[in-house]
Amino acid sequence: MLAIIGGSGLSQLSSLDIERREVVRTPYGDPSGALLFGRIGNEPMVFLARHGYGHTIPPHKVNYRANIWALKQVGAEGIVSVASVGGIRADLVPGALVVPDQIIDYTWGRAATYFDGHDSKVVHVDFTDPYSAPLRQRILAAAQRAGEAVFDGAVYAATQGPRLETAAEINRLERDGVDIVGMTGMPEAVLARELDLPYAAIAVVANYAAGRGASLHGIAMHDIEDTLHQAMGRVRAVLQNIPAE
Ligand code: HPA
Repeated sequence: MLAIIGGSGLSQLSSLDIERREVVRTPYGDPSGALLFGRIGNEPMVFLARHGYGHTIPPHKVNYRANIWALKQVGAEGIVSVASVGGIRADLVPGALVVPDQIIDYTWGRAATYFDGHDSKVVHVDFTDPYSAPLRQRILAAAQRAGEAVFDGAVYAATQGPRLETAAEINRLERDGVDIVGMTGMPEAVLARELDLPYAAIAVVANYAAGRGASLHGIAMHDIEDTLHQAMGRVRAVLQNIPAE
């Protein structure tokens, strides 16, 4: 069973026939909401809205440990994250879909490990390749079947938020080699790795990053919402093609 974590713009999945919902508690507290069980195509899926079903949990307050733990606990075998991002690389314009292959973590103060030394031993997971290569390939193949163009590979920066970045911060991220910037990719990805859950992401470029493209006069939330709204239809089409292996 595959899990889908929906981000901004995807707090429900109309293509998922919901069969039941389940409230799951974890040793790390409560996940962002009930888990929704259903199917895409013939394949069982479990869905969780990262920011809650009313979109009320900001990126720095998401209980990432509870979310990933809950998905593992109910038997998820992999996680596809849907996340909205700002585009830094010139070709990653609003509306683009991107399957990133690397991460730089700029977040701070988040509970970012299950191995925090209380009664577990010290564990250093390998994170050379933060995303699962086979799961990335599955997403890319699904996009091809859906006829949706996606960019294969990008460096994702996770910033703390909830504010957007300054123009100088975006310049720094670009010098660091970053292509897209979002607020939730970490610690989500590493927690999945710690639990041995393959994890990959579909990033939706919602806006030009600060100081880029047409955002000379700042970034308007209503533009972001419009872009996300139309792009999420395409993300759903990709997700629907994931089972057809
Ligand atoms: N910066 C950080 N996170 C984001 C952005 C952005 O410009 N757009 C959507 N999520």
